Parts: sequence; C-alpha cells; structure tokens
Amino acid sequence: MPKRLKINTLLKGDLCGQEVCARGWVRTKRDSKSVSFINLNDGSNQMGIQIIVDTDIENYEAILHLNTGAAIEAVGKLVDSPGKGQKFEIHADQIHIYGNAPGESYPLQKKGHSLEYLREIAYLRPRTNTLGCVFRIRNGLAHAIHQFFQDRGFIYVHAPVITASDAEGSGEMFQVTTLDLKNPPATEKGALDYSQDFFGKPVFLTVSGQLEAEIFALALSDVYTFGPTFRAENSNTSRHLAEFWMIEPEISFCDLDDMTVMTEEFLKYLLHYCLEHYREDLEFLQKFYNKKLIATLEGIVQSTFKKITYSEAVDVLQKSGKSFEFPVQWGADLQSEHERFLTEQHFKCPVVVVDYPKDIKAFYMRQNDDGRTVAAMDVLFPKLGEIIGGSQREERYDSLLERIHAMEMNEKEYWWYLNLRRFGTVPHSGFGLGFERLVQFATGMDNIRDVIPFPRVPKHAEF
Ligand code: 4AD
Ligand code: MG
Repeated sequence: MPKRLKINTLLKGDLCGQEVCARGWVRTKRDSKSVSFINLNDGSNQMGIQIIVDTDIENYEAILHLNTGAAIEAVGKLVDSPGKGQKFEIHADQIHIYGNAPGESYPLQKKGHSLEYLREIAYLRPRTNTLGCVFRIRNGLAHAIHQFFQDRGFIYVHAPVITASDAEGSGEMFQVTTLDLKNPPATEKGALDYSQDFFGKPVFLTVSGQLEAEIFALALSDVYTFGPTFRAENSNTSRHLAEFWMIEPEISFCDLDDMTVMTEEFLKYLLHYCLEHYREDLEFLQKFYNKKLIATLEGIVQSTFKKITYSEAVDVLQKSGKSFEFPVQWGADLQSEHERFLTEQHFKCPVVVVDYPKDIKAFYMRQNDDGRTVAAMDVLFPKLGEIIGGSQREERYDSLLERIHAMEMNEKEYWWYLNLRRFGTVPHSGFGLGFERLVQFATGMDNIRDVIPFPRVPKHAEF
C-alpha cells in the first residue's frame, strides 16, 4: 500500500507511472457509461486531482452513490492526463469510502455560493475553493512574518491575553470575570467587590501586546509579538473585527525614520512572498473576486511609499476640492475616506503619514519639539486605509508622566511602564500590523470577515 501523499505533491508528477494514494473530499463526480470522474480535494491546493474510476471496480455500486462532500481514499496509478486543465490524474484500483455525504441536503453544492451564505456555515466554508485559497494564503503570510523577523534576529515574545492594563488608553476592552453576574458581591460602600473576583481586581482581554513587548525590547533589543487582540468597539464595517490578530515589532535604539524604512521593507516582503508562493490561489481569487489583484500586489512591491506629515495630509485634503462626509480640519483624526483619497487618488501608492496631533494619539507616543505633535506613523493602503499604526515611544520619564497626567490616566496603573524610563531607558519604536487587514489586501477580499476562520463582530460569535 503506497503512502498517502498530499495532492499538491502528487501533481508535481515525480511519481508518474507509480502507485499512489490520495485522501480527501469529493468536490464533484460525473458518471459516464464506462467510468466515473471524481475531483478530489485535500486542501493542499485549489485544483484538486482527477480520479478515474472504472465501472469494474469492486465497489462501483457504492461509488455511484458518492456525493459532493464525501471523504474517500483513492489508490491507483498516477498517469498523464489527456484531459484539459490538469497534467496528471489517478487511475483508481481501489476506492475506500470513509464517510459519504447526503447529496442534496449537503449545504455546499457544486454551484458557487455567496460569501454571506458561507459565513453562516463557517464550519464548512474551508471546503470551498475561495476559503481554501484565503486560508492557505493566510497561513503563508504567517510563516513569512516569522521568517522576516527571525532572519533579522528578532525574538518572538508572547504577550498575555488577559491583562490589567489598557495599552491604548481608549477604554474599549472586554472584561474577564468569574463573578456571578446575577448576584455580584458588593463592598460595604455598595461597589462591586473585585477582591472576590478570580484575579482579585478587574482584568480584561488585551487590546495590544505593545506595552509588554516594550519590556522585552528593553532587554532583548528587537522583539515581536503575533497574537490575538480584542477591541470592544461597536464598529460594523468591512475592516473591523472585535477579535483580530496583530503583529507588533518593538525595536530598541530605533527612531521613527528608521522604523518607517523597515515597515516598507516588511510589507513589500510579505506581498512578494505571496506572489512567489501562492500564484495559483491568487489567480483563482483574481478570476472570481478582484480582476486586478495580482497587478495591485505587484504594484505595491514595486512602489516607493510616499511619506508625508499629518499637516501636509490635511493641506492636500483641504485643497483637493472634494466634499468629504467628515470635515478636514487640523486636529481631527483622519477618517477612512480621507485615508483612501490620499492613497488611491492623490498619491496612487501606499502613504506613510507621520507626526499626528498629540491629542488624537495614545499616551505613549513620543512628543515632538513643536509641542503639538507626536512621532506617530500610520501606513495607508488602497481600499483599506490604515493597515499599520506605530510610533516612536516616549522614553523620557518626565514627558511620559506629563502625558499620563494630561490624559487623566491613573499613574499608579502604569508604575512599571514608568519605571522602565528610570532604569536604562533608550529611544525605541514599534508598530502594529493588523493581520486580517494584511490578508484582506493580499487576497483582494472585500470583507474582513472572510479572511479569519471565525469572525467576531458585534452581535455575532458563532462557532
Ligand atoms: O493602530 P492600532 O490601534 O495600534 C496599536 O494597537 C499599537 N499598540 C500598535 C503598536 O504600535 N505596537 O492598531 C494597529 C493595527 C491597525 O493599523 C489595524 O491594521 C489593526 O491593527 N486593527 C484592526 N484590525 C481589525 N479590526 C480592528 N478592530 C482593528 N483595530 C486595529
Ligand atoms: Mg491606529
């Protein structure tokens, strides 16, 4: 009995003429008088492999009753395929049926289904061509991210998921508690008695691993996190999730300019990696979803990112003559429509906006000498707007404390973060890349919910 090999390996053709074994799920089956044709898919590629089954095979009666979705094993000779669209096929000697599927009541039929429908059956959608392509590319990008950082001597750090600190200071955190919500314990003064909660104080799901990454950068020099983060923001858009994965490098002895250079190199590296390794998947997605996908990715890889200050961006927007839904005014945050105008229409390339007003950015960003901006950086991509947000961190104790007070934050909660500025402080910078926004861009999918296995958004936490 030959060893089971994945279909993408078999299709390399090295074993042509030999007995092989493939396992997977039936995508389609067509019966003619003398043979049946099965397209088998095991997730290793988009095309699957064609299995030819002669009518004289032992269990042909059962083969006739095989439906889309059935799980089988095919053993037979790998041969050159005379048919169009594939180089090799398997001429089966034996078909073992693991589990049939019920025919018409199987939720995935041969015809294409809408992405909305597929979200409702997220437990089956990885079996579709589209989601197969997306999740192979997602996996490849995760691999490439580690490769990029590991090749450059960065150390992968695991930030905690449960935390007491609000890293972004924006109060959009999910609370984690084991208290009985029907009958919560009260203190004598009538407040919630957190001393009885699991951790003895209020804790939350992390919004960002940055503050913990800073601790490690101030010891191991160059580090990165790559983990789930959570935001309880009530945003029902095609670019927001309540649970998403973030990559956060943190680099010691590095200022904003140096980091901006690395950011551009990083994003180009990742998209180039996709083009090199996932051509077949990209071609499928291009054909069905986004006619310019490959050219768009190539365009970014070949582009030079445009770097401008926030003040310059405001100027460009005000002089554009466009009527935006949200007014453009120095001091107000850039909205998605503004970001997209800058990258899609005005500069026609990725744009890095730096030096935002301090009042719209987080407390930890380094104050610039002008007294009104901070050393922040957002990378804007076509169709998405912001894909990366980062900054040089405030490494000066007094300036940091002043910001914490000015923003009316509780200084006591950040005692260790402040102490890092007293114990061997250094200039350091970092950024956060939203993993799903990256996958969304690389796959050309319109909705972020189609690039994460199980999307969590307001009022939806299925599966
Ligand atoms: O700009 P953000 O909020 O920055 C941070 O969290 C910093 N602590 C990062 C750092 O400097 N280490 O988020 C970073 C990125 C955004 O640019 C966006 O790509 C993504 O995370 N992001 C989201 N992605 C999906 N759904 C959401 N709700 C997101 N919020 C942010
Ligand atoms: Mg941001």
